[in-house]
Amino acid sequence: MGKIGGKLVIATHNAGKLKEIAALLAPFGVDCISAGALGLPEPPETGITFAENALIKARAAAQASGLPALADDSGLCVAALGGRPGVYTADWAERQRFEGPSGRDWYMAMGKVEGLLCEHGPDVDRSCWFACVLAIATPDGETAVYEGRANGTLTWPPRGTMGFGYDPVFVPLGETRTFAEHDPQEKHKISHRADAFAKLVKDQFGQ
Ligand code: IMP
Repeated sequence: MGKIGGKLVIATHNAGKLKEIAALLAPFGVDCISAGALGLPEPPETGITFAENALIKARAAAQASGLPALADDSGLCVAALGGRPGVYTADWAERQRFEGPSGRDWYMAMGKVEGLLCEHGPDVDRSCWFACVLAIATPDGETAVYEGRANGTLTWPPRGTMGFGYDPVFVPLGETRTFAEHDPQEKHKISHRADAFAKLVKDQFGQ
Protein backbone atom coordinates (compact mmCIF):
# COMPACT_ATOMS: atom_id res chain seq x y z
CA MET A 1 0.00 0.00 0.00
CA GLY A 2 1.01 3.63 -0.43
CA LYS A 3 2.34 5.68 2.44
CA ILE A 4 -0.04 7.05 5.05
CA GLY A 5 0.09 10.81 5.53
CA GLY A 6 -2.26 13.69 6.24
CA LYS A 7 -5.35 12.68 8.21
CA LEU A 8 -5.53 9.20 9.73
CA VAL A 9 -8.45 7.81 11.73
CA ILE A 10 -7.35 5.82 14.77
CA ALA A 11 -10.00 3.14 15.22
CA THR A 12 -10.27 3.41 18.98
CA HIS A 13 -12.59 4.99 21.51
CA ASN A 14 -9.78 4.92 24.08
CA ALA A 15 -8.33 8.43 24.61
CA GLY A 16 -5.09 7.01 26.07
CA LYS A 17 -4.42 4.90 22.98
CA LEU A 18 -5.14 7.85 20.67
CA LYS A 19 -2.69 10.07 22.54
CA GLU A 20 0.06 7.43 22.44
CA ILE A 21 -0.40 6.67 18.73
CA ALA A 22 -0.75 10.36 17.75
CA ALA A 23 2.56 11.15 19.50
CA LEU A 24 4.31 8.28 17.68
CA LEU A 25 3.07 9.38 14.24
CA ALA A 26 3.29 13.17 14.63
CA PRO A 27 6.97 13.30 13.51
CA PHE A 28 5.88 11.82 10.15
CA GLY A 29 3.30 14.54 9.47
CA VAL A 30 0.35 12.27 10.29
CA ASP A 31 -2.64 14.04 11.81
CA CYS A 32 -4.58 11.54 13.97
CA ILE A 33 -8.27 11.73 14.81
CA SER A 34 -10.10 9.05 16.78
CA ALA A 35 -13.08 7.02 15.59
CA GLY A 36 -14.71 8.04 18.87
CA ALA A 37 -14.39 11.76 18.08
CA LEU A 38 -15.95 11.15 14.65
CA GLY A 39 -18.85 9.28 16.30
CA LEU A 40 -18.11 6.09 14.34
CA PRO A 41 -19.66 2.88 15.70
CA GLU A 42 -17.43 0.14 17.16
CA PRO A 43 -17.79 -3.03 15.05
CA PRO A 44 -18.06 -6.39 16.84
CA GLU A 45 -14.63 -8.05 17.13
CA THR A 46 -15.60 -11.44 15.73
CA GLY A 47 -12.15 -12.53 14.50
CA ILE A 48 -10.24 -15.43 16.00
CA THR A 49 -6.81 -13.84 15.46
CA PHE A 50 -5.39 -10.44 16.44
CA ALA A 51 -4.89 -9.61 12.74
CA GLU A 52 -8.53 -10.39 11.88
CA ASN A 53 -9.80 -8.15 14.67
CA ALA A 54 -7.42 -5.30 13.83
CA LEU A 55 -8.50 -5.50 10.16
CA ILE A 56 -12.21 -5.54 11.10
CA LYS A 57 -11.74 -2.31 13.10
CA ALA A 58 -9.51 -0.58 10.51
CA ARG A 59 -11.78 -1.47 7.54
CA ALA A 60 -14.94 -0.37 9.36
CA ALA A 61 -13.40 3.01 10.31
CA ALA A 62 -11.99 3.61 6.79
CA GLN A 63 -15.31 2.82 5.13
CA ALA A 64 -17.38 4.90 7.55
CA SER A 65 -15.06 7.94 7.45
CA GLY A 66 -13.74 7.90 3.88
CA LEU A 67 -10.21 8.31 5.32
CA PRO A 68 -7.34 5.85 5.87
CA ALA A 69 -7.62 4.20 9.29
CA LEU A 70 -5.32 2.46 11.74
CA ALA A 71 -6.45 -0.09 14.33
CA ASP A 72 -4.64 -2.25 16.85
CA ASP A 73 -5.51 -5.43 18.63
CA SER A 74 -3.43 -6.89 21.40
CA GLY A 75 -3.38 -9.46 24.16
CA LEU A 76 -1.50 -11.91 26.33
CA CYS A 77 -0.70 -15.42 25.06
CA VAL A 78 0.44 -18.14 27.46
CA ALA A 79 2.38 -21.06 25.95
CA ALA A 80 1.17 -23.71 28.42
CA LEU A 81 -2.44 -22.61 27.86
CA GLY A 82 -2.21 -23.07 24.09
CA GLY A 83 -1.91 -19.30 23.52
CA ARG A 84 -4.89 -18.33 25.68
CA PRO A 85 -6.29 -15.87 26.63
CA GLY A 86 -5.10 -14.43 23.27
CA VAL A 87 -7.83 -12.46 21.49
CA TYR A 88 -10.02 -12.96 24.57
CA THR A 89 -7.54 -11.21 26.92
CA ALA A 90 -9.83 -8.30 27.77
CA ASP A 91 -12.86 -10.62 28.11
CA TRP A 92 -11.13 -12.62 30.85
CA ALA A 93 -11.23 -9.45 32.94
CA GLU A 94 -14.93 -8.91 32.35
CA ARG A 95 -16.92 -8.82 35.58
CA GLN A 96 -20.02 -10.98 35.75
CA ARG A 97 -23.28 -9.03 35.61
CA PHE A 98 -24.25 -10.04 39.16
CA GLU A 99 -21.03 -8.58 40.54
CA GLY A 100 -22.19 -5.03 39.97
CA PRO A 101 -21.46 -2.29 37.45
CA SER A 102 -19.67 -3.34 34.31
CA GLY A 103 -15.94 -2.85 34.26
CA ARG A 104 -12.82 -4.91 34.11
CA ASP A 105 -11.19 -6.70 37.00
CA TRP A 106 -7.53 -7.25 36.08
CA TYR A 107 -6.64 -8.89 39.37
CA MET A 108 -9.33 -11.51 38.76
CA ALA A 109 -8.06 -12.06 35.19
CA MET A 110 -4.43 -12.46 36.31
CA GLY A 111 -5.63 -14.88 38.99
CA LYS A 112 -7.53 -16.90 36.40
CA VAL A 113 -4.39 -17.28 34.25
CA GLU A 114 -2.36 -18.26 37.33
CA GLY A 115 -5.01 -20.75 38.47
CA LEU A 116 -5.03 -22.49 35.09
CA LEU A 117 -1.22 -22.60 35.01
CA CYS A 118 -1.10 -24.16 38.48
CA GLU A 119 -3.33 -26.98 37.26
CA HIS A 120 -0.31 -28.04 35.16
CA GLY A 121 1.83 -28.58 38.28
CA PRO A 122 4.76 -26.71 39.85
CA ASP A 123 7.14 -27.25 36.90
CA VAL A 124 4.80 -25.76 34.31
CA ASP A 125 6.35 -23.73 31.47
CA ARG A 126 5.62 -20.11 32.47
CA SER A 127 6.62 -18.56 29.15
CA CYS A 128 4.24 -16.15 27.50
CA TRP A 129 4.15 -13.20 25.13
CA PHE A 130 2.23 -10.01 24.58
CA ALA A 131 1.11 -9.65 20.96
CA CYS A 132 0.15 -6.44 19.18
CA VAL A 133 -1.12 -6.27 15.61
CA LEU A 134 -1.52 -2.95 13.81
CA ALA A 135 -3.71 -2.84 10.70
CA ILE A 136 -4.07 0.00 8.22
CA ALA A 137 -6.98 0.14 5.77
CA THR A 138 -7.80 2.69 3.09
CA PRO A 139 -11.34 3.55 1.93
CA ASP A 140 -10.61 1.80 -1.41
CA GLY A 141 -9.80 -1.48 0.38
CA GLU A 142 -6.00 -1.55 0.52
CA THR A 143 -4.62 -3.02 3.74
CA ALA A 144 -1.32 -3.56 5.56
CA VAL A 145 -0.68 -5.52 8.76
CA TYR A 146 2.28 -5.27 11.20
CA GLU A 147 2.78 -7.80 14.02
CA GLY A 148 4.76 -7.08 17.18
CA ARG A 149 5.66 -9.28 20.11
CA ALA A 150 7.26 -9.04 23.57
CA ASN A 151 8.39 -12.38 25.02
CA GLY A 152 8.47 -13.00 28.76
CA THR A 153 7.44 -15.17 31.70
CA LEU A 154 4.55 -15.01 34.13
CA THR A 155 5.24 -14.33 37.78
CA TRP A 156 3.00 -14.56 40.84
CA PRO A 157 1.97 -12.63 42.91
CA PRO A 158 1.52 -9.46 40.81
CA ARG A 159 4.16 -6.72 41.36
CA GLY A 160 4.29 -3.02 40.52
CA THR A 161 1.88 -0.14 40.19
CA MET A 162 2.72 1.33 36.77
CA GLY A 163 1.18 0.15 33.51
CA PHE A 164 -2.19 -1.52 33.12
CA GLY A 165 -3.91 -4.84 32.38
CA TYR A 166 -1.63 -7.84 32.91
CA ASP A 167 1.56 -5.75 33.37
CA PRO A 168 2.04 -6.74 37.06
CA VAL A 169 2.53 -10.45 36.20
CA PHE A 170 4.58 -10.05 32.99
CA VAL A 171 8.37 -10.18 33.29
CA PRO A 172 9.98 -9.38 29.92
CA LEU A 173 12.74 -11.71 28.74
CA GLY A 174 16.14 -10.89 30.30
CA GLU A 175 14.54 -8.82 33.10
CA THR A 176 13.62 -9.44 36.74
CA ARG A 177 11.11 -6.58 37.00
CA THR A 178 7.54 -6.84 35.75
CA PHE A 179 6.21 -4.43 33.11
CA ALA A 180 4.35 -2.70 35.98
CA GLU A 181 7.74 -2.01 37.61
CA HIS A 182 9.03 -0.29 34.45
CA ASP A 183 8.29 3.37 33.95
CA PRO A 184 6.16 3.92 30.84
CA GLN A 185 9.03 5.40 28.75
CA GLU A 186 11.13 2.33 29.46
CA LYS A 187 8.28 -0.08 28.72
CA HIS A 188 7.48 1.69 25.43
CA LYS A 189 10.99 0.91 24.16
CA ILE A 190 10.60 -2.87 24.54
CA SER A 191 6.88 -3.52 24.32
CA HIS A 192 4.94 -5.52 21.72
CA ARG A 193 3.37 -2.20 20.62
CA ALA A 194 6.84 -0.67 20.10
CA ASP A 195 7.85 -3.70 18.02
CA ALA A 196 4.74 -3.43 15.80
CA PHE A 197 5.16 0.36 15.43
CA ALA A 198 8.82 -0.02 14.46
CA LYS A 199 7.72 -2.32 11.60
CA LEU A 200 4.97 0.12 10.53
CA VAL A 201 7.33 3.11 10.55
CA LYS A 202 9.98 1.20 8.58
CA ASP A 203 7.47 0.10 5.94
CA GLN A 204 5.48 3.34 5.70
CA PHE A 205 8.24 5.92 6.16
CA GLY A 206 11.44 3.97 5.44
CA GLN A 207 12.92 4.70 8.89
P1 IMP B 1 -7.38 -4.45 23.13
O1 IMP B 1 -6.29 -4.63 22.12
O2 IMP B 1 -7.68 -3.02 23.42
O3 IMP B 1 -8.58 -5.29 22.80
O4 IMP B 1 -6.84 -4.98 24.53
C1 IMP B 1 -6.46 -6.30 24.78
C2 IMP B 1 -6.13 -6.49 26.23
O5 IMP B 1 -4.79 -7.03 26.28
C3 IMP B 1 -6.06 -5.24 27.08
O6 IMP B 1 -7.29 -4.95 27.62
C4 IMP B 1 -5.04 -5.63 28.14
O7 IMP B 1 -5.61 -6.30 29.18
C5 IMP B 1 -4.14 -6.60 27.44
N1 IMP B 1 -2.91 -5.90 27.07
C6 IMP B 1 -2.56 -5.46 25.84
N2 IMP B 1 -1.39 -4.82 25.89
C7 IMP B 1 -1.01 -4.84 27.19
C8 IMP B 1 0.13 -4.31 27.87
O8 IMP B 1 1.02 -3.66 27.30
N3 IMP B 1 0.15 -4.54 29.19
C9 IMP B 1 -0.81 -5.21 29.87
N4 IMP B 1 -1.88 -5.71 29.29
C10 IMP B 1 -1.98 -5.53 27.94
